[in-house]
Amino acid sequence: MKVLLVGSGGREHALAKALTQDPSLSQLHCAPGNPGIAQLATLHPLDVENPDSVAALAIALDVDLVVIGPETPLVNGAADAIRKAGIACFGPSKAAAQLEGSKDFAKSVMRDAGVPTAKFATCENQSEIERALDLFGAPYVVKHDGLAAGKGVVVTSDRAAALHHALKSARVVIEEYLDGPEVSLFGISDGETVIPLQPAQDFKRVFDNDEGPNTGGMGAYSPLPWAPDDIMEDTLKQVLNPTIKEMAARGTPFIGLLYAGLSLTTHGIKVIEFNARFGDPETQVILPRLKTPLAQLLFAAATGALKDFGELEWRDESAVSIVLASKGYPEAPIIGDVITGIENRADTEVFQAGTKSVDGTLRSSGGRVLSVTGLGSDLTEARNRAYQSISKITLTGSFYRSDIALNASMAEKGN
Ligand code: AMP
Ligand code: GLY
Repeated sequence: MKVLLVGSGGREHALAKALTQDPSLSQLHCAPGNPGIAQLATLHPLDVENPDSVAALAIALDVDLVVIGPETPLVNGAADAIRKAGIACFGPSKAAAQLEGSKDFAKSVMRDAGVPTAKFATCENQSEIERALDLFGAPYVVKHDGLAAGKGVVVTSDRAAALHHALKSARVVIEEYLDGPEVSLFGISDGETVIPLQPAQDFKRVFDNDEGPNTGGMGAYSPLPWAPDDIMEDTLKQVLNPTIKEMAARGTPFIGLLYAGLSLTTHGIKVIEFNARFGDPETQVILPRLKTPLAQLLFAAATGALKDFGELEWRDESAVSIVLASKGYPEAPIIGDVITGIENRADTEVFQAGTKSVDGTLRSSGGRVLSVTGLGSDLTEARNRAYQSISKITLTGSFYRSDIALNASMAEKGN
């Protein structure tokens, strides 16, 4: 099978790695990719935001399957252009990607599908905003309606700060605060059938102890020893199946990865958000644990063949991934400095994200530079390996959280 992977982040590096381990893969192309992915795939320059350019590359390469990593091409309609060209695509249509592209749309689907989520109000002016803030009370949750790379959401007990954030966008969703632990649980869908992946937990805030602003994600781990045993079946039943059914009933079937960001509240599972693609950095802990050949799984989803695909197989190992971020991330990352020490990181995988090669030297080019995933017989071992390994990598001013998977690894030991 010839596959074109679209994207250039740590998620795509992890996807590339897993795809190349599938014996049915004959060629892997990636556009635009990064220096890490270049070791696994043939790279091609591409304006990923232009659906026709993405489809034209897939046609020129004569691939069997296109896998789209990031949300922007999906929301722009890349999957529609690829399918129109007669090529199988893992990634939802423009209409279905609105589950991520618009918070308000996602809420309307959840309402019609009977999926549990926070109570909310969509507001378009100051008086509506103030009324909603006072209705739901502190802590205030304010979300810009459109795509915001994980930075459109503010959760704060400061009413003035909540109002200030709300007034920055023409349309905001203000909602009830959910206080349960957060879980990311992904479903692979062919438009009708959904197969859940194992859950992961992501660390959204930039600093230890969940302090500082929200980011795209600073680290992740999987599995979750503290989560209920039936979390996958429960999420399938309450969230993934009804959402996929509702999208099909609307005439906009969702083919691709449905990312459910959940809060496990005292009143049961509630959806915090949907995304229309693999999470980052959750993918960097989930895929290294998946034994099932990935290219075959994604091809089955893209061609409506999941019903007969069978059960997924998982490794027994635990995985922990830690993100190395540039100084100043998320507000004003400083980029362009030299990265050293990523070779020979025994026992771990380094997934590159914001990196570029300049005259043969690896330099940072984004806020989240790379992530290091450790695998182990339990979270404690996986975590120790990941921290050992990342401590050998140097990049001026860079930082990482020191508490990724810490509580879970302590709970696992019964301490
Ligand atoms: P979102 O982009 O909707 O995932 O929001 C980003 C982050 O904000 C989430 O991962 C949560 O940590 C937090 N958040 C969003 N909505 C809520 C909510 N209703 N209650 C509590 N925290 C929330
Ligand atoms: N890890 C959060 C996201 O991918 O949106």
